[in-house]
Amino acid sequence: MKLLLFFTVSLLAGLVYSAPASSKEDETVVITEEFFPDELAIYTFEHDPVKILTPLNALNFEDDDDEESDSDSTTSFVVLADKDEQGGKVYKGVYLLTNGQATKILDNGKDAAAANDDTKLVYFAASDGIYVYNDEKKSADKYGSLTDDFIGIAKVNGSDTIYVLSADHVVYKVTEEGTKKEKIDQIVDAQQIILDYENNLYYYTSDKTVYVYVNGEVKKISGLPEHASYVEILNPAFVFENGAPVIVDNKSYLVYENGTSELGEFEFRVKPTAYSMEATLIQYYAYNKKVYEYNILTIIFSEILDELKKYFDDKTDAIQAIATRSRSDLRA
Ligand SMILES: *[C@@H]1O[C@H](CO)[C@@H](O)[C@H](O)[C@H]1NC(C)=O
Ligand SMILES: *[C@@H]1O[C@H](CO)[C@@H](O)[C@H](O)[C@H]1NC(C)=O
Ligand SMILES: *[C@@H]1O[C@H](CO)[C@@H](O)[C@H](O)[C@H]1NC(C)=O
Repeated sequence: MKLLLFFTVSLLAGLVYSAPASSKEDETVVITEEFFPDELAIYTFEHDPVKILTPLNALNFEDDDDEESDSDSTTSFVVLADKDEQGGKVYKGVYLLTNGQATKILDNGKDAAAANDDTKLVYFAASDGIYVYNDEKKSADKYGSLTDDFIGIAKVNGSDTIYVLSADHVVYKVTEEGTKKEKIDQIVDAQQIILDYENNLYYYTSDKTVYVYVNGEVKKISGLPEHASYVEILNPAFVFENGAPVIVDNKSYLVYENGTSELGEFEFRVKPTAYSMEATLIQYYAYNKKVYEYNILTIIFSEILDELKKYFDDKTDAIQAIATRSRSDLRA
């Protein structure tokens, strides 16, 4: 039953898991090519994945008493893109990735988002508006009536509100089933948007400064390096409520809704092109056009990645405690 595997704590963690400050130094895990061994690769695309979304909804979590589950496989959505000469993205479509098979579901999609709820809905930002996943047909249908070129999307949990980021870097709040959009004036020059599980919206601007939009107010995140050349905000692991992981240059940080940040435990010699830790016990990272699957329990109990295994060894109690929780506990 796939549920169990998901119920865990934070992991590839350092991205998410905060060790006591005193032991931070020895806890740093340096990500090198060795973290991408062939045996963990599950799919090779023809372009780089730039976003992987593993929805925390009924696509991946059934009710505990639902015995009809037929698949042990996780369902993820992968956005592909090439880089142009200026470092911009040339998008190459959105794929459904499940059971080791990838199926293209949207040619002009650029980002994907889902709420933490009991639906099978996933929303896509596309060059001509918003699309929604149709699980029956394994396809994407047009959602609402907007036709803008959108490059980012974030789904608010528990309402029909969706935030979208347009190609000209304006953030809109979309309501009324995708028919009404309202510009959020406080947010200027956003390059990427990500929501945490309490519906706080994180974004960064073209000068690589990270902000959070909370209750109608924008706060700059303090404590991050200035003049960074690379920033990527990640969907948080679901054990993480009021914050999100951010990679700034080669280090991981956690940023919080109150505007603070702290250094994470991961340092990157090589960087994934896409990160998906939201399912927590099973995580996906893309590197050199391949998607790698990290099943944290398997890594702990096998010899696959020794350095990572060492890192998890002193956290096994916490991991097992979480492995027996259910998603409903986590929502409470
Ligand atoms: C998200 O929404 C669902 C359904 O509306 C609700 O049951 C759940 O508690 C919400 N989760 C969070 C983390 O707020
Ligand atoms: C900000 O939030 C984080 C996470 O909840 C917390 O650890 C930290 O103490 C808070 N800082 C301030 C100044 O409130
Ligand atoms: C930082 O990461 C880049 C790849 O994203 C790599 O080329 C570079 O060597 C890294 N620098 C250090 C100091 O690890």
